[in-house]
Amino acid sequence: MSVLVTGGAGYIGSHTVAELLASGEDVIVLDNLQKGHSGAVLADTFYQGDIRDPQLLDQIFTRHDIDAVVHFAADSLVGESVQDPLKYYDNNVVAAQRLLSKMKEHNVKRIVFSSTAATYGEPKRIPIRETDPTEPTNPYGETKLAIEKMLKWCEQAYGTKSVSLRYFNAAGAHPDGRIGEDHDPETHLIPIILQVALGQREHVSIFGDDYPTEDGTCIRDYIHVMDLANAHWLALKRLRETNESGIYNLGNGTGFSVKQVIETARRITGHPIPAQMGPRRAGDPAVLVASSGKAKSELGWKPKYDSLEQIIESAWNWHRNHPAGYRSHI
Ligand code: UFG
Repeated sequence: MSVLVTGGAGYIGSHTVAELLASGEDVIVLDNLQKGHSGAVLADTFYQGDIRDPQLLDQIFTRHDIDAVVHFAADSLVGESVQDPLKYYDNNVVAAQRLLSKMKEHNVKRIVFSSTAATYGEPKRIPIRETDPTEPTNPYGETKLAIEKMLKWCEQAYGTKSVSLRYFNAAGAHPDGRIGEDHDPETHLIPIILQVALGQREHVSIFGDDYPTEDGTCIRDYIHVMDLANAHWLALKRLRETNESGIYNLGNGTGFSVKQVIETARRITGHPIPAQMGPRRAGDPAVLVASSGKAKSELGWKPKYDSLEQIIESAWNWHRNHPAGYRSHI
């Protein structure tokens, strides 16, 4: 039995591949390398191509005995999705529809889906629970929610079982230092801060300090990418064992403000990391913190790297050793 990981050359995808391989799974990676990196592909079997390519999917599903798909391949920038929603409907919703059609044709009935806290929009209460209303405030969250709903109807019609994992703020890198976070352009807070510590940027801009939080900056729930990766493995196991679909939040349940994150990174890197106050970024909710009790009780998930220090230390380890990301190897 093999597991097909779409987007397995991307940030969260590659860390999940590492976790699946370490758990003894036979893993096949499919990635078009638009955002992913060939240096991040850890599986021996790698197909470079697009999930919208029907011939390629036929080839993969025919050649390999695939019992489940872990689906990451997608665009994931909130700001870009507001500028170009049709790109997100194509790369996320249309692509997932093509993948699910081919899974149906080849009788593959299990899928673990990479979803997001952006499905909730502006939360009505903190911590956010899976049963809370989903009212996305941007096309990125909207497309991920559309896929969750597609999965629900596919289960009813074709018996496709799915687990959707709604991530909060993924950060950190593999402890063995081989893979980490490398986006172009980089928009995420922790890598940007570490680029300042490496002298690649002069300062970090804080997007607004007039939010209704203690220090006025936004609060987020940062989760280590290896803990996310482990949740995918547990979700896959549960799908195989119980054949039950589900939706789970993945976060640590503790929020940190932008200022707290910068302060922690200053301590860890020993660099002053200059910060400048800037305007709010459109679409940013003030506070996003997860309740992950359901993932803990039903999946048996126990985050291992649950302090902000551990998360930033592992990210710093990767960035220091790969100042140009995956290009550092060349
Ligand atoms: N921020 C800054 N300066 C920067 C970058 C970010 O102040 O240069 C702030 C943001 O305004 C936000 C916080 O740092 O308050 C975290 O921002 P990120 O861009 O790192 O992450 P987001 O919370 O915007 O988004 C992440 C994922 C999304 C997902 C969302 C859901 O990247 O894909 O979490 O929680 F939708």
